[in-house]
Amino acid sequence: MKGKIAVIVVMMASLAVLSHAHVFASDQGQIGETVYRFDPATQTSRAMEFKNTYDGRKLFKSNCKSCHYRGNDKGAQYMNEDARTMRGWNAVFFKKNVRCAKDGSWAKLSAEELVYVNDYLYSQAYDTWDPRTARSCG
Ligand code: HEC
Repeated sequence: MKGKIAVIVVMMASLAVLSHAHVFASDQGQIGETVYRFDPATQTSRAMEFKNTYDGRKLFKSNCKSCHYRGNDKGAQYMNEDARTMRGWNAVFFKKNVRCAKDGSWAKLSAEELVYVNDYLYSQAYDTWDPRTARSCG
């Protein structure tokens, strides 16, 4: 009799754990889920993962930040990754209607490199809460 009760108790306990398992599973799925950025210029979907945005980070720091740092004498305002929303950064790179894009200051970067910078800035934009995945908070 005692043995039977023990078996039933164990079964009930595992049922209780199993019925919650989907909660843990879906939580993990959300954290690991990759977010994609659709790039209108190249018509490609780009995975916003650290390994893909790191090149853009380096290009942003070495090029854009060479002017847009605090107290610079190039007439550029201090600018960080969160100066624009995700859509805002896409617009900057698609329309290229900011002064430095028009006056040739972006000319050192190839079209491909600019897409990398766009990827990086998108992944760190104002309305992201998880910089590893560019998941929106809105
Ligand atoms: C040679 C210097 C220089 C470089 C390099 C440069 N910029 Fe600029 N940028 C400027 C100047 C000058 C302006 C006009 C003044 C301003 O609004 O900051 C400007 C304006 C902007 C603006 C509009 C500012 C706003 O908030 O309205 C954005 C966005 C911008 N730059 C992004 C970039 C990005 C992205 C890069 C790198 C791909 C870059 N810039 C590289 C000098 C530069």
